[in-house]
This record gives sequence, structure tokens and C-alpha cells, in this order.
Amino acid sequence: MIRSVVRGVGSALPARIMKNAEFETLVDTTDDWIVQRTGIRQRHIAGDDETTASLGEAAARRALADAGLTPDDIDLIVLATSTPNNTFPATAVEIQQRLGMHHGFAFDMQAVCSGFVYALTTADLYIRGGSARRVLVIGSETFSRLLDWTDRTTCVLFGDGAGALVLEAGEGAGTVSDRGILSASLRSDGSHREKLYVDGGPSTTGTVGHLRMEGREVFKHAVAMIADVVEAALGEAGVTADEIDWFVPHQANKRIIDASARKLGIAEDKVVTTVHLHGNTSAASVPLALSVAVDRGMIKRGDLVLVEAMGGGFTWGAAVLRW
Ligand code: UT7
Repeated sequence: MIRSVVRGVGSALPARIMKNAEFETLVDTTDDWIVQRTGIRQRHIAGDDETTASLGEAAARRALADAGLTPDDIDLIVLATSTPNNTFPATAVEIQQRLGMHHGFAFDMQAVCSGFVYALTTADLYIRGGSARRVLVIGSETFSRLLDWTDRTTCVLFGDGAGALVLEAGEGAGTVSDRGILSASLRSDGSHREKLYVDGGPSTTGTVGHLRMEGREVFKHAVAMIADVVEAALGEAGVTADEIDWFVPHQANKRIIDASARKLGIAEDKVVTTVHLHGNTSAASVPLALSVAVDRGMIKRGDLVLVEAMGGGFTWGAAVLRW
């Protein structure tokens, strides 16, 4: 059977690092509060010349180099983002143009923090359906542009960045030993819309708007929703949590990551954590963390990797893959 195998991974971060201490001069907060409640110590913030498209392009180029491939080898680009360069065309098409690609097709996916898991699952369907052989799956965000910098309950939490994978069709035996994506599970429930949303848009206010979140409410639902969708993905793959080599969760809050790992019974030393370095980069957080884990020599070929994310909508999802 056809499997979608990871052939390359890459990431990109804006040059500017903003440490927690800087927020002490902007809003009524402290480094200590941010570290204790979230685990975040710093985040990268895009400069005027850095956009979702430029960061996505840089991550894509690194993933292609890691794969030993060029844009000519790619059939499809799926970009997960909630911070597109423009309302339209899709930022994926701009990345396609920046890469010098005039063949194939490209589109954006919008599932907020779960966007990368949605994009990965979609790319897998195109590959297994036979309509694409190699897909660039990118998560790229510039959430700093959506923040209300006077709202201490949200502005300290997010950062900018991008991560990308090259997926390639491979032959598998249809067993858990196959390399590639083994299972995925996606969920959404729009009744939670008001808990995490942006108060603007082309069809309503005609403005970009600002991110609004009832953090405590999101927190309350996060661990149970994550555990539920992870159990579904593990079940579909036919593996148990203790067989997982690396757990790469969405990086929103260290307390949510720790509680999820505990609930799932995954040992602390198998959890990839980057939230202290990047903050919450929404759809970029999982591919950024995958890229960091590979660079740190943690994730290696053949390892069983579990990814998950949960965010605005609510949307949530998980996937199991053998690297
Ligand atoms: O990626 C999408 C998913 N998003 C998330 O997963 C975010 C989920 N939520 C969270 O991570 C946490 O709820 C937060 C980090 C947002 C907040 O942590 P919390 O432990 O839930 O705190 P809280 O909202 O219950 O606020 C506790 C107190 C409040 O003061 P009072 O009402 O107790 O007097 C807040 O006003 O902390 C106050 N507070 C702050 N204090 C200093 C809120 N933000 C800040 C701040 N600095 N930046």
C-alpha cells in the first residue's frame, strides 16, 4: 500500500527574539508570571520584511534541501496558516511563486493551531489517492500581526515562525512497521467559537481584527480533547502510547503539554518541548518542534512519532507516523 513518508524537514524563525522581560514595559505582567503559567521564556517576532510567505518559503527551502530535492520535484503545496499575507490569493500560491514553481497546485488550510495536523492529513490523502507524489506541507504564521499588544492575557502567549515537511509516496506492507503516516484523527466543534477567535474579517468588519481568547476556558477543554483524539489515532494505527518514541504536541502551554503526556501515560523524556523558545506559533508549532527535534538528534529514521494540536474553532487532531 502507498504510505506518505517524511523525506525532509526544515524550519525558519524571524531574526528578532523578544524575551518576557520586554512585556514588563508594555503591559502589567512579569517574566515570572509568564514562565510559571505557560513555560514561555521568549518568542520570535517578524520584522517588517518578514511575512508568512517569506518564513514559509525559507522553511520549505530547508525541507527541500534536507530531502535532497528541488521545487521541480514537488506536485502540491499545502500551507496551514491563519495569518495569510493577503485575504486572497492563497499564501501557498505566493510560496509556490517564490520557489519558482509553475507546475502543480497549491492551497491554504485554515484550522488555526490544528492547521498543520489538518494539512498533514490532507496531503496524506492526496498521496494515497495517487494525485500527488511529493507534497510540501508547511505551517507558517505571523500571529504577532493579530495581537492586541495592550491585552496581557493574549499578547504574551504567541510568536511567529514556520516549519515544513516534504512528504513522498512510498511502498508499505500495510503494517505498523511501515515508514510514513500510519493514522490520523481530526475533530472540530464550532460551538466553542467564541472562546478563541479573531474579532475581524473580510465579510464582517472589513478589518483584520485582533485575537481574543478566554484562556481558562480553552485550557479547561484542551487536555481531554487532546487525549480523546490521540487515543483515536493510536487505536487506528494499532499502537499503544508506550510504543511511541516521540510525542510532539502543539506548543501552547507547558502545563497543557505536561498534563496531556501524563494523561496519555507518555514519559517526560519522550516529549518534545519548544514552547519556552518559540511561544505558541499556532499552525507552525508542530513542524517547528519536529524540525528542532531532528536537529537535536532526538527523532531518527524509524522512530514512532505522535503529533497533536488543539485550537480555535475548536479544532483538534492527532497523527501517528513512523519517521
Ligand atoms: O493554541 C491555542 C490554544 N490556546 C491555549 O492552549 C491557551 C490555553 N490557556 C492557557 O494557556 C492559560 O489559560 C493562560 C496561560 C492563557 C492563562 O493561565 P491561567 O492559569 O488559566 O490563568 P487565568 O486566565 O486563570 O488568570 C489568572 C490571573 C488572572 O487574574 P485574577 O482574575 O486571578 O486576578 C488574570 O487576570 O492571572 C491574570 N493574568 C495575568 N497576570 C500577569 C492574565 N494574564 C496575565 C499576564 N500577566 N500576562
